[in-house]
Amino acid sequence: MRSIAIINQKGGVGKTTTAVNLSAALAATGQRVCLIDLDPQAHATLHLGLQPARDERSVYDVLTSDAELADVWREVGECLWVVGSHIDLAAAEVELVGVVGREVILRDKLANCADHFDYILIDCPPSLGILTLNALAAVDEVFLPLQPHFLALHGLSKLLQTIDLVAKRLNDRLKLTGVVYCMYESGTRLAAEVAHDVDQFFSTTRQPLTPWAEARTFQTRIRRNIRLAEAPSFGQSIFHYAPGSNGAEDYEQLAREVAGV
Ligand SMILES: Nc1ncnc2c1ncn2[C@@H]1O[C@H](COP(=O)(O)OP(=O)(O)OP(=O)(O)O)[C@@H](O)[C@H]1O
Ligand SMILES: [Mg+2]
Repeated sequence: MRSIAIINQKGGVGKTTTAVNLSAALAATGQRVCLIDLDPQAHATLHLGLQPARDERSVYDVLTSDAELADVWREVGECLWVVGSHIDLAAAEVELVGVVGREVILRDKLANCADHFDYILIDCPPSLGILTLNALAAVDEVFLPLQPHFLALHGLSKLLQTIDLVAKRLNDRLKLTGVVYCMYESGTRLAAEVAHDVDQFFSTTRQPLTPWAEARTFQTRIRRNIRLAEAPSFGQSIFHYAPGSNGAEDYEQLAREVAGV
């Protein structure tokens, strides 16, 4: 099983769009995929057509009670399951203060269901708090979506520092697999320049034994595509909403690249 956290503490860079559509693309190839929505905004949950409801158990219950992931996940398509979120999750940060081992709750619960899936993807909130730490402690890989504009690199050092700390203290398997460019405007100078700066950044900070020693940029760039922005309000992945769109094409190609096909 591969486990992947989709992380960037910067908001609105394409984390959820990537988590949802990459999950759907992998599931469409027959891989069993579970998407865990670890963001109190519950955007991934909504994007896949589920209504976050207080009477349904969610990832909040997984983190704060005895509930296992299997008690909570719901099948939303062939080969695709979702562990939904709920706004209550915003309180988990505070509720977990003082709980011993609060960073590794998800890791332990994930270990109980490793055989069920080929892929676990985790959509993270735009912060580096306890929720994101739980994701980093639980997975083997990090994917970093970046929007190529001039502030793309801002905060990247802090993110790498956090990944490094988690790798040293909680999870020695943790690796940054790569950068996914989202909302890419091909043909613009800015996009090309930012991509160049990011490559440069990684080559100057790359050291052996760091979790990003082998990080790469995925060849597939997710182009800006209005269909990708429309799909969430219909509660559908891009493959249901607009199968012929550039967005569908890009995420299908990213899934192939991720799977190494
Ligand atoms: N390739 C794209 N083309 C056009 N719009 C996109 C694309 N990718 C994402 N969007 C839109 O940009 C907005 C931000 O994307 P998304 O929600 O995936 O980012 P995020 O990093 O998950 O945000 P947050 O930090 O709030 O969780 C959304 O409205 C989404 O529909
Ligand atoms: Mg999001």
